[in-house]
Amino acid sequence: MNAFKLIIDKAECKYLYEDIPFVDGLRQFQEGGYTAVPVIKNDGTYAGTIRDKDFLQKYINPDDLNKPNNLEKLTNMTVGDIVKPEMNPAINISKDINDVLLLSMQQNFVPIVDDRDVFVGIITRKDIIKMLSDNHEPWNTHVIQEDNNYESDGKMELSISRVERNQEPYKIFSKMYEAAMKEICIRIETINEMLKIKYNREPLHQIESRIKSAKSVLGKMARKGLPATVDNIQENLYDIAGVRVICAYLSDVYEFAKYLEIQSDLKLIKRKDYIVNPKPNGYRSLHLILEVPINYIGALKKIPVEVQLRTEPMDYWASLEHDLKYKPTHNAMGLDMTAQLKECSRELAETEMKMQNLSELIKRTESGNEEVVY
Ligand code: GTP
Ligand code: MG
Repeated sequence: MNAFKLIIDKAECKYLYEDIPFVDGLRQFQEGGYTAVPVIKNDGTYAGTIRDKDFLQKYINPDDLNKPNNLEKLTNMTVGDIVKPEMNPAINISKDINDVLLLSMQQNFVPIVDDRDVFVGIITRKDIIKMLSDNHEPWNTHVIQEDNNYESDGKMELSISRVERNQEPYKIFSKMYEAAMKEICIRIETINEMLKIKYNREPLHQIESRIKSAKSVLGKMARKGLPATVDNIQENLYDIAGVRVICAYLSDVYEFAKYLEIQSDLKLIKRKDYIVNPKPNGYRSLHLILEVPINYIGALKKIPVEVQLRTEPMDYWASLEHDLKYKPTHNAMGLDMTAQLKECSRELAETEMKMQNLSELIKRTESGNEEVVY
């Protein structure tokens, strides 16, 4: 587990710029009532930490301890002149939480920096202690307390409320999935703009997206028989972020997939073509799991997103099947729903193929006519 969870963001913690005058630094320090604050350079990188006694020391005259120091000298100084870079070493944001724990043995707070040493925020010893006492668990903390008794609704609700009260990291890491999901949506819209020009029509009918709720995540981990730790969830669930792309024609499904797959910074983890090979119940769609690079509070993360690409008839069929699955009326009036649905799926596929052929025929005729005109 990395240090994300406990970071007090730069926007919310006190820090000083190294090039401000010593006296201004002293005033800000006093007003804040701190005993130590981080100091940053103009380019945002971490310069070191300044403590109350570093200020005090400047009032002592090293040549004659009985006389005050030359105050005029102080007015020409900046905060950077008294900062001690070695005092409070910073740690990279992607480091393991155990490294933060070790550093916090020597310092009251641990400054956190990104890969370019830019100051991101701090983790205080106080918050580490609070987290330890909240969890009573080792650092490889469970998102949800490991509990074999998931069937008990009461217990599950209790765990979820812990997640929602932000005592657990689900909220934080689901933000990264949200960022990845938005990124994919933007890319799909961009592909759509390009295809609109190419075909002079609207290939994208609708785009839907969702983040899996904490409850569904818990349920799925329980079905997989895995403890719901952050690490386990990240390694085993690829559909926390989901994007559904509903296209006009069958050929559009493959065009969108192609233009996503060729984007060099996206990594294709898995591809399931349920259009060429429908599921036994008749379900059709093209599924891609794409890994998206996301910069989150300065750290680069690779987040999987499940993209389901389908046509309108495929979507219509999937919604109907989904609804019927949960209705206990399967054999009402002697209907065999399963067989009927399968038959519908086959017929829809056939009709779609006919319509696709028709559309291509029209396109060819149109371009043939254009050639005659020009
Ligand atoms: P899940 O554990 O359900 O995520 O399945 P999986 O990991 O094997 O992935 P798969 O690609 O088969 O399915 C992922 C998603 O596609 C599901 O969560 C549904 O949203 C959708 N899906 C898959 N199969 C069906 C189906 O038979 N009917 C409907 N309505 N949707 C389906
Ligand atoms: Mg799923």
